Amino acid sequence: MSINAHKKDFPMLAGQPQLVYLDSGATSQTPQPVLDAMNDYYNTCNANIHRGVYQVSTEATKRYEATREKIAAFIGAQREELIFTSGATMSLNLLAYSLCSTLKQGDEVVTTLMEHHSNFVPWQQLAKQHGFTMRSIGVTPDGRLNMEEAAALISPATKIVTFTHMSNALGTINPAKELCALAHRVGAVAIVDGAQSIAHMQVDVKNMNCDFFVFSGHKMFGPKGIGCLYGKATLLKNMQPFLYGGDMISEVTTTDTCFNELPYKFEAGTPNIADAIGLGAAVDYIQSIGIKNVIQHEAVLTRYALDVLKNIPNITFYGPQNASQYAIISFNLKGIHAHDVATLLDREHIAVRAGHHCAMPFMTALGVHGTVRVSLSSYNTKEDIDKLHDALLKVQKIFK
Ligand SMILES: Cc1ncc(COP(=O)(O)O)c(C=O)c1O
Repeated sequence: MSINAHKKDFPMLAGQPQLVYLDSGATSQTPQPVLDAMNDYYNTCNANIHRGVYQVSTEATKRYEATREKIAAFIGAQREELIFTSGATMSLNLLAYSLCSTLKQGDEVVTTLMEHHSNFVPWQQLAKQHGFTMRSIGVTPDGRLNMEEAAALISPATKIVTFTHMSNALGTINPAKELCALAHRVGAVAIVDGAQSIAHMQVDVKNMNCDFFVFSGHKMFGPKGIGCLYGKATLLKNMQPFLYGGDMISEVTTTDTCFNELPYKFEAGTPNIADAIGLGAAVDYIQSIGIKNVIQHEAVLTRYALDVLKNIPNITFYGPQNASQYAIISFNLKGIHAHDVATLLDREHIAVRAGHHCAMPFMTALGVHGTVRVSLSSYNTKEDIDKLHDALLKVQKIFK
């Protein structure tokens, strides 16, 4: 499939050709095959899974489990290592509650100042409950992780190192493999928040050697309310489940419970079957375009956007502005509040995000209240960037 032709696959974009959608970091658009896959489940085999012996239930189970296998293969994992959750936030909370239950005073969890709140607040709040210490790796003025500080902070007291693969605020890509190695050197587990990276990179969890990797479906052309947690089988086997209920048990007596095998041990209750199947169709869709083509297209577009937008007077960019910044451009226009910029761009049918991007500690470290964020996907074009450029000049005229 040609990457330039694929805007038409997305009903919302095809139906509103005047819309320039530049907020895929918040949620990506949903292509028709994903909508069709979900509809088809409801139209043909809308039944609960795993427990039914009748045909439509076994068909639903077949589709759900085939999806698990497909997504596991997509990130280089085994099927039993792939747990469906409601998204990255749920996956991170599951990990925080499960892993922190054994932490105590003197133990440390290392995160970074670059995190989305969903990989910051759970550790911060559980540190208060359990008495362990949370430490945060700082950032450089151009929005990269301070790797010297990382090496110094990760110590024998560290039990968990948790960090984002790609910043949702600036698009900075972190050296995941290196950070995982730093964690393993002291015997800590490494958690990678892949909520942003999953749509823009070839992820191979085994090569990265992370212990856990989390992501959301709705940032990779899938539906909302579905996401995944990858965990090394050896670690998942020894972890306490976070949620208790149906399907996650193998035997219950009045006094005790035996938990189910992996991955079901972590999937209590009726899962989000239709959306999981939709996410499987999103993976098919990405593979039909080719992740390499996606990466190449977005890299060219990111470079183009930085080149074109730097001609806007009084623009300040945040982020490294080199190969380690990808698919996201974050900026401010001097003297104009980021929210005003976004509101005026909306009048030109351009959708961007403005504010702290759920990364307040990061904004504080950068010395700003917020930024305007343009986040790209493979359906964006150079024409979208040109329209943004012209609209930003208009915004500046209004404020003159
Ligand atoms: C880096 C990062 N982590 C975690 C999340 C949380 O994802 P969700 O809201 O889909 O659970 C986001 C969402 O923007 C994100 O960008």
